[in-house]
Amino acid sequence: MTDDERILSDQTIDDDEKAIEKSMRPHFLKEYIGQDKLKRELEIYIKAAKQREEAMDHVLLFGPPGLGKTTMAFVIANELGVHMRTTSGPAIEKAGDLLSVLSELQVGDVLFIDEIHRLPRAVEETLYSAMEDFYVDIIVGQGPTAHPVHYPLPPFTLIGATTRAGLLSAPLRDRFGILAALNYYEQQDLQEIVLRSAGVLNTKITPEAALEVALRARGTPRVANRLLKRVRDFAEVSDQDEITQELASEALTQLRVDRSGLDQVDRRLLTMMIKLYDGGPVGLKTIAVNIGEDVETVETMYEPFLLQKGFLKRTSRGRMVTKQAYDHLGLPMPEQK
Ligand SMILES: Nc1ncnc2c1ncn2[C@@H]1O[C@H](COP(=O)(O)OP(=O)(O)O)[C@@H](O)[C@H]1O
Ligand SMILES: [Mg+2]
Repeated sequence: MTDDERILSDQTIDDDEKAIEKSMRPHFLKEYIGQDKLKRELEIYIKAAKQREEAMDHVLLFGPPGLGKTTMAFVIANELGVHMRTTSGPAIEKAGDLLSVLSELQVGDVLFIDEIHRLPRAVEETLYSAMEDFYVDIIVGQGPTAHPVHYPLPPFTLIGATTRAGLLSAPLRDRFGILAALNYYEQQDLQEIVLRSAGVLNTKITPEAALEVALRARGTPRVANRLLKRVRDFAEVSDQDEITQELASEALTQLRVDRSGLDQVDRRLLTMMIKLYDGGPVGLKTIAVNIGEDVETVETMYEPFLLQKGFLKRTSRGRMVTKQAYDHLGLPMPEQK
């Protein structure tokens, strides 16, 4: 993957970026832009939990990377006025690891488990009683000294995040009272996010330039923020103290993102399907192999966006490129399709 592709596509985030993301993160619902329906629902649940002085129901946040799941978990904890402990599915290897996280919780706290679909099965089963009745039964010790121990827990709220809700087992999914889907953002919302982030970064940008960035951000706040930082670098180098539309457009063209928000990998994926497979149907694995990504990345990052844009469709025999995509790429569509 080239550096240019990385800005748009890479799911792995380095420490630098983590720090910047943290600084750009909204803290309360009223600063969280977009996802209006979800915000309205959550507002009610949060209010009710506070009035009853009870832990809020468990929440499952799901949707493609970069749409604001982690951010929303922090916002919920802030709004509830409680502490949040953070961990992730792969970090919890055994039931004992889970217990040590759970034992730090105080009444009403939030436990955030990122990538919850990657929890080992045995840990997941331990989580059931913790979620349902706030206790954990666990075997302590080994061999002849092994014995079961019953740990009561304070009432708490579990917030799970996943890019792949479909991979969650039914018993786990059923234990979440609130299922919250995050969707790709509207241009207007992304424009507002860019303007807000520019403020946090102390960067001047015109609304037109912010829209230019928003248009190319794949409907994703993380991408919008990354593009903004690139454009800001560009402005600094060219000695401009405000990002104008012209400058933004020039910078973004250099980054090779088009105004439909497609990045190089998106375009490579579609072009490959057209050139090698006449536009499909093509299986997911074949797509992944041909563009040098793993199946999970194709399924969670590329496919949902291209489906949403109407550039790709799913059929029982595989994925197919649509007429709209041929038109967008300026390629002729074969006769019988
Ligand atoms: N609704 C939003 N309003 C403002 N900024 C947002 C919003 N959603 C996400 N962001 C920003 O986008 C970046 C990625 O969000 P994050 O919560 O880490 O996504 P996810 O956990 O879904 O991968 C963060 O820097 C965050 O501040
Ligand atoms: Mg996250």
